[in-house]
Amino acid sequence: MTINSRKAINFEKLENIAIIGNGGRENALAWAIQKSDYVKNIFIIPGNGGSSNFKKCKGLDLDYSDTSKLIDKLIELNINFIIIGPEIPLANGLADVLRKKDFCVFGPGSDGAKLESSKSWAKNFMKDGNIPTADFWKVSSIEDATPIINSNNSLVVKADGLASGKGVFIPENRNETLEITELILNGKFGNAGNIVVLEERLKGPEVSVFALCDGKNYVVLPTAQDHKRLEEGDKGLNTGGMGAYSPTPLISQNDLKEICEKIIDPTIKGLIKKKIDYRGVLYFGLMITESGAKVIEYNCRFGDPECQTIMPLMDKNFVNLLYECAIGNLHKNEQIIVNNMVSGCVIASSNGYPQDYEVGYKIQLENSKDKNLQVFHSGTIINESKELVTNGGRVLSIVCQNKDFDTAFEKAYEYLDKVKFKGISYRKDIGHQVRESYKGVRN
Ligand code: AMP
Ligand code: GLY
Repeated sequence: MTINSRKAINFEKLENIAIIGNGGRENALAWAIQKSDYVKNIFIIPGNGGSSNFKKCKGLDLDYSDTSKLIDKLIELNINFIIIGPEIPLANGLADVLRKKDFCVFGPGSDGAKLESSKSWAKNFMKDGNIPTADFWKVSSIEDATPIINSNNSLVVKADGLASGKGVFIPENRNETLEITELILNGKFGNAGNIVVLEERLKGPEVSVFALCDGKNYVVLPTAQDHKRLEEGDKGLNTGGMGAYSPTPLISQNDLKEICEKIIDPTIKGLIKKKIDYRGVLYFGLMITESGAKVIEYNCRFGDPECQTIMPLMDKNFVNLLYECAIGNLHKNEQIIVNNMVSGCVIASSNGYPQDYEVGYKIQLENSKDKNLQVFHSGTIINESKELVTNGGRVLSIVCQNKDFDTAFEKAYEYLDKVKFKGISYRKDIGHQVRESYKGVRN
């Protein structure tokens, strides 16, 4: 997209930065951003057990949903730039509140976050913009849903609103489709299920594409593929993501050009048409079908663990791009500087995740001595005895870069072998799609 001309940018404003969130995504963003010569201090709010592991970075135990307290703290710390990581504060309008107070923010307002916070809104948006996606029906009663379910063979059922990644179902048959639709409409996800989206079921591998957007122009990050299922061979329950690799050979340079033309450009145009000034990352969850790439979902944030996987490929000026987006001044031909390596990420989780699991177990790990191997923290915390313990379902992301995926994953797994906490679980086949040496299940 080539719309605006450029003003001079004062990167000195990057001295003190706040990152909102407590996951692996925010830990990886902090790590990537502290490389900048402009950056002096990064406060991760509230952060996790790994927030202080990197130069210039510190966790700040503060409830960011208390916006007046948050604003007081940001003023006290002389924060000039804020990056909002998770979808819930974005959907709740935290970026709008901060912008009204003249803070410079990377992250869309609640209007743009609707692409993620309302699936029916996003589907209508795609329909209006002629953006390739699955056919869909929006229903708000079982009476409306029944004839659609009876006349379509395989449907996907989605709660309209945010449901912590648990609101999508792929039923085996019509009875199951009816049952889950009714459960959602009857309040399984509270108000998030007042509307249900029934979708045509697509087939094909899924990939993640991220565009940093300043409201008019955008730049695309290296592509990635996530592993959503819990078990090896891509089986078992859906999770937030058990590992990822980047870039993915499933998208060639030509494919990416086509994705830009058919999906990303019309998305930006659609936002502009709706007068939505989207300054943040647009995450396109795509399925590569026989008839080309189609949008499965939009998210208004970086993917987790895709973010952990991609950040080590960025150069030290990555934060400049985020800032340029936030001030609405991305260069029309902005080039993203990436190193020429590939990156693989494996998530170590608590036994039981994504369902019930226990926390509070002591974590033993060594500092990485390899500059191409990072340990990003997600569900960790420093307890009262100053020990690092588990505090969530996904605990650590082990990320490694190399010239080839085989070596990158070999090193990540070698490191992971030495990480210890009670109930540690991880998939051994992450990146199987791109590991020449992998002898297990491939798809
Ligand atoms: P979502 O939260 O919308 O990304 O959906 C979660 C997962 O459900 C996706 O990552 C896909 O694996 C699957 N899914 C969602 N929509 C569809 C669809 N229309 N066809 C096939 N699978 C889908
Ligand atoms: N890794 C998938 C997501 O962040 O939604």
